[in-house]
Amino acid sequence: MCGIVGAAASRDVVPFLVDGLKRLEYRGYDSAGIAVVAGEDVRRVRRTGRVSELEAAAAAEGLHAPLGIGHTRWATHGGVTESNAHPHISVGELALVHNGIIENHEQQRQRLQALGYAFESQTDTEVVAHLIHHYRAQGASLLGALQRAVKELHGAYALAVIDRRDPGVLVAARMGCPLLVGLGEGENFVASDVSAIVSATRRVIYLEEGDTAQVTRDAVQVYDAGDAPVVREVHVSDVSLASLELGPYRHFMQKEIHEQPRALGDTLEGIVDAGGFDPALFGKDAAEVLADVESVQILACGTSYYAGLVARYWIEAIAGLPCAVDIASEYRYRPVAATARQLVVTISQSGETLDTLEALKYAGSLGLVRTLAICNVPESAIPRASRLVFYTRAGAEIGVASTKAFTTQLVALFALTCVLARLRGRIDAAQEAAYLDELRHLPGSVQHALNLEPQIALWAEQFAPRQHALFLGRGMHYPIALEGALKLKEISYIHAEGYPAGELKHGPLALVDEQMPVVVIAPNDALLEKVKSNIQEVRARGGQMYVFADADSHFGPSEQVQVIRTPRHVGTLSPIVHAIPVQLLAYHVALARGTDVDKPRNLAKSVTVE
Ligand code: G6P
Repeated sequence: MCGIVGAAASRDVVPFLVDGLKRLEYRGYDSAGIAVVAGEDVRRVRRTGRVSELEAAAAAEGLHAPLGIGHTRWATHGGVTESNAHPHISVGELALVHNGIIENHEQQRQRLQALGYAFESQTDTEVVAHLIHHYRAQGASLLGALQRAVKELHGAYALAVIDRRDPGVLVAARMGCPLLVGLGEGENFVASDVSAIVSATRRVIYLEEGDTAQVTRDAVQVYDAGDAPVVREVHVSDVSLASLELGPYRHFMQKEIHEQPRALGDTLEGIVDAGGFDPALFGKDAAEVLADVESVQILACGTSYYAGLVARYWIEAIAGLPCAVDIASEYRYRPVAATARQLVVTISQSGETLDTLEALKYAGSLGLVRTLAICNVPESAIPRASRLVFYTRAGAEIGVASTKAFTTQLVALFALTCVLARLRGRIDAAQEAAYLDELRHLPGSVQHALNLEPQIALWAEQFAPRQHALFLGRGMHYPIALEGALKLKEISYIHAEGYPAGELKHGPLALVDEQMPVVVIAPNDALLEKVKSNIQEVRARGGQMYVFADADSHFGPSEQVQVIRTPRHVGTLSPIVHAIPVQLLAYHVALARGTDVDKPRNLAKSVTVE
């Protein structure tokens, strides 16, 4: 969702801000704006729609300055209008951008209106601009005014502020939303996401909850929640510029699908290097935290939730632990019967999905202290709030529809399963070695599945005119059917449902006719014969079947049944391999329908509001 970038430099920062906003586009937004301090003025350009429109408007207005802030907005309070777009300006002097939600904005608005401030937008954000202005008017410095103002805000925020009376100064604050400071050569930056500034620097300071910062082109000072100066660690981000570029691909989703052998290989590196399923993969004190775990509770949203559903099969079958998987937004509001020695696992590509973060906090409030985050973004909110962490090494994922994050999450969850199984004496050294071997072969099997792309693209042509589709799977491939349906609906806008194949007769069979394509995940496992029976049920009703069958299952095509042979059955890790064809199918259907693959309508990459 919303994104922030800001810069204090000696060069003209407008091109840098525009470039930063373009790199934040993937998060999802509906309007954008920049404000600069140029000479003695604050100047601003805002546009609804794409950053490219903002870029053209900034050029037309001749905006140039060495200090500025930019924002991409995803509307929450107030519609998608130019006057609601950020930056917001108070009394022509101070400009501010904000990510998050100010919960007490109504009270603040009334108070500030009584003080004479005129409001130009319907946003919760504008109150913050006026509040800071109010304290400046009482004599506080820009930083001091920000520090006073944030203490009166309830909710979540990342803020960046400039003021025409302080031409070289940018101030920032963070609570509940990510914000970092970038350290350049003779110039410094703020951003909600390292991708926005990576063209200038990879040296970053992640602000902590309650921190504020003053940033000029040659100095950065961070203050803690008590306003005391503090020294925060400088990290060197491993996000590369190349990972943010399309290269030879048409879409980031396509690039990310094809990056999976590499992403899986990188994620596996630590596991294989450790020579086995060492608890330390999950953090220094993981052996102690995991030793006496009696059950597992997984919390996540979207695709990450489906990764959790696959993991349940592994955790129960291999580690022998009861495992529940909840959608984070459901868990956080239901009375939960918590058991003390439960491991709470959150899964999040971004590490900032609000519902997952809040579900984690809720688990903590129930006394569940054994927490583990599986995440793709270092230092993001969810891993920071967790005792143990496993970072997947998928690299930056830009396409809204998650692909490589999903398969690398599954690797992390499989490693967790094996660690738990080992701690509980459920697997011996030989079994451990066999699982490690399966993991080593995984990137190769995934590459084989990617090679199916031309055949899948042909199927996609048949799908493109359809309005509905059904995805069926059984056992640990049922979540892959759910994921296939989710991918298809997200980016092609075809209504799709994922079902456990055994449930066919309990409802979805009523939908089947010759207009309804039915995708079946049919690996060569113990449930294959059952799946074949389900296929007959669909066939008898005139349904068109599209079957992904393992090469060694001898599953042949017949009337109404088309088959693509995936690689030979890879055993326990099969759901990871079977995720690839359904990703490719969704991608090619979306291509055929001409949708905006990387930025599907109404969706955002990081959902930082409820
Ligand atoms: C959004 C994204 C999905 C993602 C979900 C959970 O809906 O569009 O791709 O699966 O959020 O995000 P997370 O970052 O927590 O994995």
